[in-house]
Amino acid sequence: MTAEELMQKAIEARALSYSPYSHFAVGAALLCRDGTIYLGANVENASYPVSMCAERNALYHAMMEGKKKDDFVALAIVANGEHECSPCGMCRQALSELYPSSAPIYLGNLTGAIKETNTKELLPFAFRKEDLQK
Ligand code: THU
Repeated sequence: MTAEELMQKAIEARALSYSPYSHFAVGAALLCRDGTIYLGANVENASYPVSMCAERNALYHAMMEGKKKDDFVALAIVANGEHECSPCGMCRQALSELYPSSAPIYLGNLTGAIKETNTKELLPFAFRKEDLQK
């Protein structure tokens, strides 16, 4: 599957966004080794911090279907911004632990621009479970 095809799935997921507060709809599509694609969109709440980002929704969606880090092959994230959608800090932390550092992350917008990145680039010097050792 090409980056453009996976991005198209993220655009489909974006249509499911519930974002009445920010009016900033985000979609994500996570491709797994077995060919399954898990979708996610941002889901907001009147109590703002309760909101969930699109990419974490896709990741957790896959995990709740039994998928693990090694199953993840590629992730696409899209919003209607001037530039490619850049994941927030919380999502960078989640991805750095749960998504393979060698797998591509495609950031896009609705103009068709796509930037490829990865967890190392998004969050160098991440806090890791090894850092919890006392
Ligand atoms: N958002 C995402 O879902 N993913 C990102 O990568 C950036 C931000 C959401 C969170 C919130 O619902 C809205 O976009 C505005 O911040």
